[in-house]
Order: sequence, then C-alpha cells, then structure tokens
Amino acid sequence: MNVEFYERIWMWVAVAVLVLFAGTVLLTAAIAAVHPPSHMETIDPQAIALNPEFSHPSVNVQPDGAIVVSVVAEMYSFSPNPIEVPANRPVTFRLTSSDVIHGFEVVGTNANAMAIPGYVSQFTVSFPKPGEYTIGCNEYCGVLHHYMVGKLIVKGESK
Ligand code: CUA
Repeated sequence: MNVEFYERIWMWVAVAVLVLFAGTVLLTAAIAAVHPPSHMETIDPQAIALNPEFSHPSVNVQPDGAIVVSVVAEMYSFSPNPIEVPANRPVTFRLTSSDVIHGFEVVGTNANAMAIPGYVSQFTVSFPKPGEYTIGCNEYCGVLHHYMVGKLIVKGESK
C-alpha cells in the first residue's frame, strides 16, 4: 500500500498528539494527584434537611482523628462557610447539592470536584500552606453563579 509522504507525516502527528494527551493524563495522575472521582454514593436531594450528615453540614473530627467536611452547595452559597481546617492533615470533603450542579474548587490547590444533586462527591486532600483560600463554583448554575464563593481557612504551621 502506498501512503503519500505528507499523509504519513500527518499520521505521525496524530499519533504524537494522542501520546502527548495520554501522557498528560498519566503524568498529572502520578505527580499532581489529578484523579477521576471513584466514589459512588447517592442521596435524596429533596431530603437533605432530614439527612443526619448534611442537614447540618460542618467540619467533623472522627474518633480516629480523621477530618471530614460535609458541604452542601446550593444557589448561590456553600455551607458551612467559612470552612476551617488544620494544615498538613488529610481532610476528606464530602459534597452534595440540594438543587443543581455546582463546582467546588479551592482556588490555587488541587481540591476541585463537582457537587451533583443526588450524589455525594468525596475526595481527600491536605493543605500544606496555611492561609485563607477562596472556594469558587466553577459550574454555571444560574444568574448569580459568579457570586457563588466560599472561604476556606487553613490554620497551623506550614511544613
Ligand atoms: Cu454554583 Cu455556579
């Protein structure tokens, strides 16, 4: 089979782009801990007020010392707000939404997940740098989407 020289170049370019993109995914997963969600848990979005965990979303220290933050996102706020956690400790966020899809991004960190009505999104991160961080909603959720911000306060010593 005869393949034109220029066509062959473009075939190799296509292969190179695929390798680059696949490599980017693998590299960020290995180095920057960018992971797809791997937690499947459902919740009735209409019954959040009755849910023992999400009716009073808050920062909880478990008996084993683990820190769990339950967060409810709704138009156009996050609850609790502000969220206060210690630095250099694994913090597990559990997010859900009572209305539409919202984003939950701690700006400047790799804490970033979607709050989806009907589901609980869960991820664990630790914050090495104390300070105040903005939490932004990065999914368009309505006319006041751009006002939907929260605050994360990381307390303690930096390492
Ligand atoms: Cu919530 Cu955009």
